[in-house]
Amino acid sequence: MVKGIILAGGTGTRMMPCTKVTNKHLLPVYDKPMVYYPLQTLIEAGIKNIMIVSGRGHAGHFVNLLGSGKEFGVKLSYEVQEEAGGIAQALSLAEDFADNESIVVILGDNIFEDNIKDYIEEQEGCKIFLKEVELEAAKRFGCALVENGKVTYVEEKPLHPKSNLAMTGLYMFDSKVFDIIRTLNPSARGELEITDAIDCYVQKRACYYEIIKGFWSDAGTFESLFKASTLIRRKNNPLQSDLASDVHIERIYEMIRAQKELLKEIMEKIENNLGKEDNYIKKEIERRIEKIDYGEYL
Ligand code: G1P
Repeated sequence: MVKGIILAGGTGTRMMPCTKVTNKHLLPVYDKPMVYYPLQTLIEAGIKNIMIVSGRGHAGHFVNLLGSGKEFGVKLSYEVQEEAGGIAQALSLAEDFADNESIVVILGDNIFEDNIKDYIEEQEGCKIFLKEVELEAAKRFGCALVENGKVTYVEEKPLHPKSNLAMTGLYMFDSKVFDIIRTLNPSARGELEITDAIDCYVQKRACYYEIIKGFWSDAGTFESLFKASTLIRRKNNPLQSDLASDVHIERIYEMIRAQKELLKEIMEKIENNLGKEDNYIKKEIERRIEKIDYGEYL
């Protein structure tokens, strides 16, 4: 039976000061702590045995929050990453837990709409999950090229992306991944990169892929956290308007109210100049103010 691993370590430097006293993966995404979402993705895929790898400072908070996993109907185990050393380094800590079985690995800040149940099957090699994004956005992620059902090229945060297929933070590996991680060298940012581990599979023509259809977002920056919260809010309350459109409508109202004030001022000036006598302009302005009052300008 495939086991699941959630990687929830790191220092969350991109989200300071929110991550000064807590772990990024405990911050709220709309109405739940971030880590609930990858956990839910694994649970919905039918995975019953899940390990959470987190940093030393906040490991206890994950235990307090999620406990044994009983309330979710799964078994949770925990592992502590002493120092942030990259995704691949965090994954290496789950070697004993994996116990030579295939594993599904998900980053604790990745939020998926799709149920990945049908994609999960024990197989040799590795499988990565890709999402089409804007070419500009691909610079922020790992990026992949594919051909005839296999991945032919991967690159971490490319300056000039060769494709618009971003690597999401969801992976399947066979048990060889741990031997591969032992061969990796730290990248320019001083981390053992998961993309380098995946590249070893690519070189052996043993890296497969799926393209994610539903929404996907990481939530590791303020902008992506806001986006993820909006996507979840929209999914949970499909009949509620978007926050963005609420803001937009409020702006329109403001503009209309300002117009009304302007018309009133003009009206006063006319009245002062022409006295109380009736005239065409005055009637026209009154008519327009009335229209605004009845909301006809919307
Ligand atoms: C990590 C991976 C990257 C992947 C991304 C998805 O990046 O290194 O390949 O596209 O997660 O969220 P990081 O969030 O560490 O910058």
